[in-house]
Amino acid sequence: MNDKELVAHQALQYVSENMIVGLGTGSTANYFIDALAKRNKEENLKIRAVSSSVVSMIKAKEAGLPIIAMEQIKEIDLYIDGADEIAPDLTLLKGRGYDLVREKLLARSAKKFIVIADESKLVKKIGDNFPIPSEVQPFAWELVKNILIKKGTGDIRINAAKDGYAITSCGNFVLDFNYPEKSTEELNALLSQTPGIVEHGIFYNIAHGALISSNGKVREIWKN
Ligand code: 5RP
Repeated sequence: MNDKELVAHQALQYVSENMIVGLGTGSTANYFIDALAKRNKEENLKIRAVSSSVVSMIKAKEAGLPIIAMEQIKEIDLYIDGADEIAPDLTLLKGRGYDLVREKLLARSAKKFIVIADESKLVKKIGDNFPIPSEVQPFAWELVKNILIKKGTGDIRINAAKDGYAITSCGNFVLDFNYPEKSTEELNALLSQTPGIVEHGIFYNIAHGALISSNGKVREIWKN
């Protein structure tokens, strides 16, 4: 079992019968989806799952988890997702998978949000390893880029085929920017207050805890 799989399995201890569980997106979240589906079947836990992306919905359906739509829920019991970066105060950077709106909405609506990752995701400061993604309404992207360019450097995200812009499952574009001069708090406020940005990748004060794996061991970090 690799470290991502190990940490995904550890997260199962927070699952109990009849829960509505939010499913994240990415390779670590995929391990959790498989492990949850297996446990649900074996122990008849009657879990209902809600997905943070089309990709994780397909994955969950294939694994045999009962899926409910976001429109059917007011809150969820537990949200388990990976991250691209995790700062010491549990601020996260997310969004390589394009589905920021759904991911942050589920994270915010969860009674407990636990991030699962291997230790390569730990950083001193958000933005150390990756640019910060902002999901923007398509008509607004040039105007938003012009606002952000005064604060940092970056551009619109190109799709995997490199023949057009990347499009999120909400139909938006993504601007990936580095802002070396700005603190996480300043950036969170700036991006949250910029019109045209639907959502951004800084998850500030949202995670309740983190499970971090390293060389076959898992440690827990909890928010005070
Ligand atoms: C998707 C995310 C992912 O959780 C993040 O990219 C981590 O992915 P992985 O588990 O594959 O390393 O934020 O938007």
